[in-house]
Amino acid sequence: MSAPTSEVILIEEHPINPDQDVGSIALVTIDRPDKLNALNADVMSALKAMVAWVESTPHVRVVIITGAQPNDPPEGKRAKPNAFVAGADITEFVGKKSDDIRVMFADNAVEALWNISKPTIAMVDGFALGGGCEVACSCDVRIASDRSRFGTPEINLGLIPGYGATQRLANLVGYGKTMEMIFTGEMVSAEEAHRIGLVNKVCAPDDLFETTMAMARLIGSKSSNTLGVGKATVRAALDSGLTEGVAIEAEAFASLFDSKDKEIGVTAFLNRSTPEWKHQ
Ligand code: COA
Repeated sequence: MSAPTSEVILIEEHPINPDQDVGSIALVTIDRPDKLNALNADVMSALKAMVAWVESTPHVRVVIITGAQPNDPPEGKRAKPNAFVAGADITEFVGKKSDDIRVMFADNAVEALWNISKPTIAMVDGFALGGGCEVACSCDVRIASDRSRFGTPEINLGLIPGYGATQRLANLVGYGKTMEMIFTGEMVSAEEAHRIGLVNKVCAPDDLFETTMAMARLIGSKSSNTLGVGKATVRAALDSGLTEGVAIEAEAFASLFDSKDKEIGVTAFLNRSTPEWKHQ
């Protein structure tokens, strides 16, 4: 199955290791820079198609989500700012009632992203606001340029976040900071986002692509089976209490002792060699 084409998201595949056929990193770019990559219905449906493709394509090992860079402005006009995603497309809120939104949420692209079984990284350069902050929080790891800004400004629209910030943002930064962000709608700098645990790494804009790819390549060099078990286990723990979560982890850890890749990894360590995973 080839990558689904769309006018609003671009998908490029990059090799994990150019010297070895060990799979690829899917770089997914939300491509509406004139609207700061806001999430309209077309983007949401393209993201769902992308998720279906990622799940059914074994050679895709890691997914990076990013936003398109600004276009050159027409003469005499100011350039649009850099954005990861500046939120849900507010123009689509006009005239909508609760029942319309319930239908929209029944098949929710941000939940689809969150439920990707493979490692996901948000590469953020610019505004990550509202649904954009929530797309970033639905990835496993966030790497941001130092000019990025995060926020949940829905309060200024008479709304609250709707794509999981009350859960996933709160899991990352804690109750107090989440309440501050939701109540005030104020933005958090990349530096502060790093300090409070919202992003994993911050770097200069020129280094963002290489920093993100380096992490994607490192993750992609591990056993895909073990990565999947690791992700599923942490996710299961989020949905359970401590005792149940520890039991889930112990069972997942035990089950890996029957895997070929545990034999390969342990043997490679003892032989001081590089593991060549069965599940590349
Ligand atoms: N939905 C739809 N369009 C959006 C958008 C959104 N969430 N965010 C930005 N845009 C559009 C603007 O309307 C503008 O379009 P235009 O040039 O056709 O008029 C374009 O993107 C550029 O944005 P602009 O507001 O002119 O840039 P700015 O530098 O003055 O301000 C922001 C940047 C991010 C502060 C501002 O765009 C903003 O507050 N966006 C909304 C953020 C938000 O509330 N998100 C949560 C939605 S639930």
